[in-house]
Amino acid sequence: MKVRKAVIPVAGLGTRFLPASKAIPKEMLTVVDRPTIQYIVEEVVASGIEEVILVTSAGKSAIENHFDYNFELDTFLEQKRKHGLAEEVRHISNLIDVVSVRQKKPLGLGHAIWMARNVVGNEPFLVLLGDDLVQAETPCCKQMLDLFEELQTPIVAIQRVPQEETHQYGIVEGQAVRDRLTKVNRLIEKPAPGTSDSNMAIIGRYLLTPEIFDLLEKTTPGHGGEIQLTDALMALSNKNGMYAYEFEGTRYDAGDKLGYLKAIVAFASCHKTLGPAFRRYIKEMAATL
Ligand code: G1P
Repeated sequence: MKVRKAVIPVAGLGTRFLPASKAIPKEMLTVVDRPTIQYIVEEVVASGIEEVILVTSAGKSAIENHFDYNFELDTFLEQKRKHGLAEEVRHISNLIDVVSVRQKKPLGLGHAIWMARNVVGNEPFLVLLGDDLVQAETPCCKQMLDLFEELQTPIVAIQRVPQEETHQYGIVEGQAVRDRLTKVNRLIEKPAPGTSDSNMAIIGRYLLTPEIFDLLEKTTPGHGGEIQLTDALMALSNKNGMYAYEFEGTRYDAGDKLGYLKAIVAFASCHKTLGPAFRRYIKEMAATL
């Protein structure tokens, strides 16, 4: 079955990014010339997905507005003969169909995904977490969609992390079946140090089948007292099997202050117009450090 929908949870309070995220959603913080959420949506679009489902909460309307058509702004820019800029702004609202559902209480990532059940319906779908920006020749989601066509089994994207960082992630244990592909045995949300030998960390890209919704409904609060997606994934893996895929590309944790700065440097270095001057500047600056 073709994967047509992507769920993007954006309901979180962004506490790791305070005070910047006090009055604006952290997903609206800029990397070079676009808010981080636009990179996520552009990855979805470049992967051939038809519909985005945002799981939002109070105070997040700036995200919905960003992907909406802004009549006043468009008219103003056209009157000022700034046609190029007007076109660029219109382009964002034409990227893809966006619908949103509300997560009324911050009960966890698993609960946020469960909120999308009626809009997703009975079909496989992608989940992208807004904190994880991936720079890749082939979009990370596209790599997963191609693999899903072959495997027809849920897939989580992973990357290897240093052992001392595993407690910050959902960790996958399993057996390698071929290059970059592991058959999942166990998933643990943020394992305490020393409780798992694996360093395969789930990054925010999942390709799931709709059975996850019933399993999420039965999932009881786990790590941090929240309904964890990882716990429901363990149940889904037991039921239908699951693969972990070591994607090709680089992931930046844009929800963390240092990760966000790294993302800015990486995306600015590759930027079509700003890239060459920015790279020169970085070289000059590095020489002074
Ligand atoms: C979430 C997931 C975790 C995953 C991580 C990737 O955690 O619960 O399993 O490894 O995203 O970014 P969070 O970073 O929201 O605490």
